[in-house]
Amino acid sequence: MEARKLSETCYVLEGTTNLGVLLDEAGDAWLVDSGADTKTGAEVLAWFNERGFRLRAILNTHSHADHIGGNHFLQQATGCRIFAPEGELAFVERPELELDMLYGAPAPAGFHHRIFTADGSRAEGIRTAGLPRGLSLIPLPGHSMDMLGFRTEDGIVFLADSVVSEETLRRNALVYAWDMCRAMESLRSILEMDAAFWVPSHAEVTESVRPLVMQNLSGLEELQDRILELCRVPVSHEMLLKALLADSGMHVHPARYVLLSAALRGWLTGLARTDRIRSELTDAQLVWHCI
Ligand SMILES: [Fe+2]
Repeated sequence: MEARKLSETCYVLEGTTNLGVLLDEAGDAWLVDSGADTKTGAEVLAWFNERGFRLRAILNTHSHADHIGGNHFLQQATGCRIFAPEGELAFVERPELELDMLYGAPAPAGFHHRIFTADGSRAEGIRTAGLPRGLSLIPLPGHSMDMLGFRTEDGIVFLADSVVSEETLRRNALVYAWDMCRAMESLRSILEMDAAFWVPSHAEVTESVRPLVMQNLSGLEELQDRILELCRVPVSHEMLLKALLADSGMHVHPARYVLLSAALRGWLTGLARTDRIRSELTDAQLVWHCI
């Protein structure tokens, strides 16, 4: 975990998930996300202790395990408050719901994986929280139901998982989003913003995020075209996913399959909502095809 100072009151702790540290007017620290696990939480706490920072609260951008994994440890160790988007509070408190929701029932043991694993914590709604002076919330729904970004008073923007790295785009059959159409709207909204620094959770901190946003949008549009191409003939969700996985050469474990399967459902819903495909039950099989 490398610490990078972006301004007098803002640090980024760079790692698998980039975290933010914001100093408020009283000199207390607010942590943006808490990393993937207890180990990260312990590293954050050691870093805070070295500098004499007091952890006042954690601000979760969304409820995915790699953003809330240090919550429980840090709350137990410091008594800090935790604020999260209202639409995702249940998942912060009970992270095991995420996998069950995506699977559609209690998931079998073999489907449990660290991408879904975190300890629950007590969280409060972020929209009614008294935030540090000048900190504002940026709605970035799509990747998850109610994901939020943050803008500091000095123009540093935390983008959560709205933008992914070039490598993630290249290596994955499908980029995960709960609702890909809304995720693309959120991406386009970033093009209308300006900032001194941009902090994506899983890509490098940058002064210019536009090229990466454009790359994300064109990658997603290509994928959308591929899905529409596959839907020229009636095709089941499972066969579509099989074709997309074959395109990418990805080998997935059951948990990743559940994640990608849910992401594909989100795509199909979006394409159906905009009248480009429709579903049909044929011989007791649900198939999708272009209109
Ligand atoms: Fe995420």
